Amino acid sequence: MNARGYGIYEFGPFRLDQAERMLSGAGQVVALSPKALDLLIALVTKAGRVVDKEELMREVWPDTFVEENNLTVNISALRRALGSVSSDQDYIQTAPRRGYRFVARVRQAAESAPLAPGGTASAETDSEVLVGREPELHILESFLRDAVEGAGRMIFITGEPGIGKTALSNAFLRHVRSRLPVAAICRGRCLEQYGASEPYLPVLDALSNLLSGTAGKLVADVLRSRAPTWCLQFPAVFGSADGLERLYRETVGATKERMLRELVDALGTLASAAPVVLHFEDLHWADPSSIDLLRRLCQDTEKQRLLVTGTFRPADVERSNYPLKIFLLEMQAHKQCEEIALGLLTQPHLVTYLDTRFAPNRFDPELAALIHRKTEGQPLFATSLIQFLVERGDIAREGDYWMLTRLLSELDLEAPVNVRKMIRKKVDALDSEDRRAMEYASIQGEEFTSVVLAGLLEVDELGLEERLDRLDKIHRLIQTLGEEELPDGTFTTRYRFAHVLYQNDLYQDLVNKRRVLLHRQTGDLLIRYCGDQAPRFATQFAMHFERGRNFARTVEFLIHAGDHGRQINANDKAVDHYSRALSFVPRMSPDEQASRLFAIYQKRGAAYLATSQFDQAVKDFTSMLDQARAMNDRTREHSALNALAEVYFYSHRLDELEECAGEALRIARYLGDDRLRVETMVFIAMRQDIVGELGQAKCNLDDTIRVARALDFRRALLDALAWRGQLHFFQSEYECAQEVLREALDLAAELRHGPLFLQAQFFLGLSLGNMGRFSEALAVLKGATALARLNGDQYWQAKIPNCIAWIYRELEDFHQALKYDLEGLTVARASKVREAETNSLINLGCDLTHAADAEKTLESFGGAAAILESDVWCRWRFTLRLHAGFAAHHLSRRELDKAAAYARLLLESATRYEARKYVALAHKLLAEAACERHAFAEAEDHLNAALTQLAGYPVPILMWRISSMLGRVRLQRGDGSAAEAFERASTIVQMIASNVDDEKLRTSFLAAPAVQEVFVRGRTFHPA
Ligand SMILES: Nc1ncnc2c1ncn2[C@@H]1O[C@H](COP(=O)(O)OP(=O)(O)O)[C@@H](O)[C@H]1O
Ligand SMILES: [Mg+2]
Repeated sequence: MNARGYGIYEFGPFRLDQAERMLSGAGQVVALSPKALDLLIALVTKAGRVVDKEELMREVWPDTFVEENNLTVNISALRRALGSVSSDQDYIQTAPRRGYRFVARVRQAAESAPLAPGGTASAETDSEVLVGREPELHILESFLRDAVEGAGRMIFITGEPGIGKTALSNAFLRHVRSRLPVAAICRGRCLEQYGASEPYLPVLDALSNLLSGTAGKLVADVLRSRAPTWCLQFPAVFGSADGLERLYRETVGATKERMLRELVDALGTLASAAPVVLHFEDLHWADPSSIDLLRRLCQDTEKQRLLVTGTFRPADVERSNYPLKIFLLEMQAHKQCEEIALGLLTQPHLVTYLDTRFAPNRFDPELAALIHRKTEGQPLFATSLIQFLVERGDIAREGDYWMLTRLLSELDLEAPVNVRKMIRKKVDALDSEDRRAMEYASIQGEEFTSVVLAGLLEVDELGLEERLDRLDKIHRLIQTLGEEELPDGTFTTRYRFAHVLYQNDLYQDLVNKRRVLLHRQTGDLLIRYCGDQAPRFATQFAMHFERGRNFARTVEFLIHAGDHGRQINANDKAVDHYSRALSFVPRMSPDEQASRLFAIYQKRGAAYLATSQFDQAVKDFTSMLDQARAMNDRTREHSALNALAEVYFYSHRLDELEECAGEALRIARYLGDDRLRVETMVFIAMRQDIVGELGQAKCNLDDTIRVARALDFRRALLDALAWRGQLHFFQSEYECAQEVLREALDLAAELRHGPLFLQAQFFLGLSLGNMGRFSEALAVLKGATALARLNGDQYWQAKIPNCIAWIYRELEDFHQALKYDLEGLTVARASKVREAETNSLINLGCDLTHAADAEKTLESFGGAAAILESDVWCRWRFTLRLHAGFAAHHLSRRELDKAAAYARLLLESATRYEARKYVALAHKLLAEAACERHAFAEAEDHLNAALTQLAGYPVPILMWRISSMLGRVRLQRGDGSAAEAFERASTIVQMIASNVDDEKLRTSFLAAPAVQEVFVRGRTFHPA
């Protein structure tokens, strides 16, 4: 092995120098493409054994996914190359369907000479020659060392176009790959996107690299467990049918925040297994979501084995990437990132470059000086100039040496004055066909595919690929990236311009009319090949149509781009796309405008609604309504009114909701359209539920469920089921509630409706709890809490602690109950969720009653009452609980009249709202007041009334308490059937206890005095 850890191998007449990346045979250099050479190295270093195709693909194309036929093509190229030197032996044997074996005897030779600093390569791989960047490489290496030791860093390589950012990063990544083979390296590119940038483009690029790399399996596992929201972006990897369904459930209601958090977490997990190097190219074109990810990573890297590197052009950041500019300022202020600003190359660097690339040579020593003078050491300029001299034959190999074939003074006259002129000169030297091909290719951007280019040029693709191959190998204007499959199954080859400045220049060459035409044709071709995946490629399509002045199509694809943004939780980006689409509508033909405007307002309003920006949503839906009315289109008018009704509901503007929904309903009836009718009916019923018009709510929800089911109208069905389930719960119909809510849960997951998914979980948990199935209830509620937290859903995050507190209270663990209620109150106040605040205050009052703190109890209840006074939202429901609380409080103070008065209020309203549990509770409270007065007969009547009420609507958690009390009253009355009542209570208590999995909680419940009383008096044996 030599200084870099590479070997030299000999077989037959060949000598393979791994470090030099050179194969020679019979004293001659054998020309091989870089990939063929990699393949040969992979085979030779494993000579004698069959190497699987997969393993070979991983080694040769570590960061990119390529088709298997690339392997076959390169194997035959290798065989040809080896055969041309020595045809008397087979070197590579095929193991059918498995892979290949290198069968010649291989000898490992002595070490080669240590490399010149900065590395070296044969003339074939000049793009890998890097000179003069040793200090920068040292800095990067030291950052890598820090990262490997767990102190992650972020570092940016910056400078003008052509200064060598990509060249340096490539060299560094090659270094990492060879020095630290265990590291996971991923690289993402940003592309110039002209306004309609695609969220997370470089991040998705980097992840797909990782997924197809050597550690693909591990990466997939980590993403699956840590970052499910990202898995949805890779259906090819995670898209098995049931896999997707589970992913949908786990990610329902996900937000951008959650996506960012999950990815940071997943990268952290990967980094704990092996160092991770994450590299982003051309960040000046990064979209804001990707920058947000960088910001998140930065907060975390310090403790992780993670190195984040990136390149950007400062001038472009300053000019056109405000979010990145701000991010960099923040980072620099906190010294959280470093920057390597690249400078020009010196004359000695150019000497090294010439000597490395053209070895051995007999150049005039003045050549490097001349090039330096002309180019000032600008790397792109200098290397292009040198390449130009080679192509023109001014630099050529004569015998064993590279020489100048002209006088230096002649060169001097002809060298261009700057890099752009240099590029110009190279382009001008192309023959007209090549040049046309390159100009047309520039339409697609920095990267392009042969199939689209062939379409634009109207030529045969195979012939074109041969031409492109020449432009790659000989002119080095482009690089071949490899074969890829387009969404419609077409295979094509992808290329990249050797430098984006070439693309810019060629693009400028096209006359404006031609550019417009070509962009439009490119858009059409892309639709043909990628139409199926329009949303994924929408920003690209939109750009081509915008530049091709097909504004109808531009608007169409900007809308798709917005939809895609919403799908990956980039609502802010979606709003941008929709807004941009709006700006192009006036340029469409007048008769298409109104319907487009309508659609855009509808979608943008929905994006605002999804992020609770209610005022903006109302504005858009109102514009939507105006459009509908201008079009005189009743159906559209209905959907605008309906959209408004929805925002009004969630922003608690119930009067406006009633008005809108009423109007929408009239239209639906006028049109005789059941689908439209139930779509609105749901909102009407939801309002009725909230204000306590329960009879009507119930009718309307049942009707909606029936019609929506018949029409298979799932969105309306989901809303109706979720609210109907909740109503079943309020009216103590827990079995029904459970059934309906489980159906709602499945539908919410399927339709990816986060808030309703949480709502259904919440009420399912409460229903299970009332049935005495506390462990199941806790599991459901804890699942809901976790999801609400992941999704940053403040509303449900604020509401759930109360329910957990309630379960502890029912299980007689008052300490935990108090803890969760206090937590609930804090969260509710912090996130200003009034409903949750009311709930917490009432619950706290109950805890404080138990703790015999009368003053604080009243303070708490008073707080709740004050909120209810000013807010109609769910007033009826909370008032029931508040009255029950007051009654219990006064009982504890032996203020019997007050207690009875509240209990009667409760009885009256609970009966009206058919809240059976509260009807029974009111009777129980009245019975307690009666007992205090020694009116035991009256007490027994109330308790029997309560039990009768519960007979049809079982509430086990209340039933045992009522039965136990009945036992006590009967004891007082000397009634022999007291034990029977206690026994009934004890059976229920045991059922409840058997449903508590947590042993500690179960034991403490069974040991509670109220429970012990039941056991003792019921004479039932029970292991305490
Ligand atoms: N230090 C260097 N040594 C040799 N060639 C270089 C060096 N830096 C850049 N180049 C060459 O200059 C050209 C432009 O460099 P590149 O890295 O693409 O620039 P950037 O990414 O900054 O725009 C490439 O062909 C590259 O090979
Ligand atoms: Mg670059």
